[in-house]
Amino acid sequence: MANENVSVWTSIPFWRRSAAWVTGFATILLIWLTFDTIGQISMGTDADLKNGVTKRVPAPTVINYKIGYEMSKKRGHEVPTIGEKQPFFGKEWSPKEAANLLHLGKLTSQAKNCMDCHTLLGNGAYYAPDLTKAWLDPAWQDGGPMQGMTGKNTVEEAMAEFLQHPSKYPTHARMMPNLGITADEAKGLVAFLKHMSSIDTNGFPRNFSKTVDQFKAGGTNAH
Ligand code: HEC
Repeated sequence: MANENVSVWTSIPFWRRSAAWVTGFATILLIWLTFDTIGQISMGTDADLKNGVTKRVPAPTVINYKIGYEMSKKRGHEVPTIGEKQPFFGKEWSPKEAANLLHLGKLTSQAKNCMDCHTLLGNGAYYAPDLTKAWLDPAWQDGGPMQGMTGKNTVEEAMAEFLQHPSKYPTHARMMPNLGITADEAKGLVAFLKHMSSIDTNGFPRNFSKTVDQFKAGGTNAH
């Protein structure tokens, strides 16, 4: 009788039950999201590349292909595209060779602490240009200043030369110090950067194309 006027909102068992249901539901949702994310970020295979299957993180052999960056109207930002075959340092790399080269590049990026100054996939510092899409920076492409400056005629050779002797080619107000990078390590780093540029990062870094357009318009620098 006395209970008739008690509102459900003040009922302790009601809140206990609700908390249990919400916690249970959120747990199931998080488990599902975890598996969904693992599926999205797991690396593709060489066969995916050959069959034109798009993966957010392509196989290491993506270094054998031309990478583009195109606006997707549907998604509202740029998405990396994988084009035709293109020799990388003058050859086609087997899956094993490509994986080893990428591994060397990754280890070198950690040993030389690129993240102290640069940002890679959202981690690191903004003292120096974001490297997530550095491979696609027009400054390095045909007709950009970096190939002429380094005396090389491919993106990979120009970048590898720059990485070994950065203080010889100052392109920005701030100079990258000489880090004692060997020729092999430089190759690995360039493979690492090329592979990174092919990862679908939902359009991050956000300002990449804008800074590139300013570069095209002003001709000063891309950052
Ligand atoms: C002490 C700070 C510092 C460290 C460490 C550093 N860099 Fe740099 N880097 C710079 C600065 C500053 C620039 C811009 C100056 C320039 O281009 O001459 C630059 C420029 C670059 C560019 C050209 C970017 C573009 O889009 O044009 C690349 C590529 C690059 N760095 C790669 C690396 C890699 C790979 C590592 C690690 C092995 C590394 N850097 C470590 C400071 C650093």
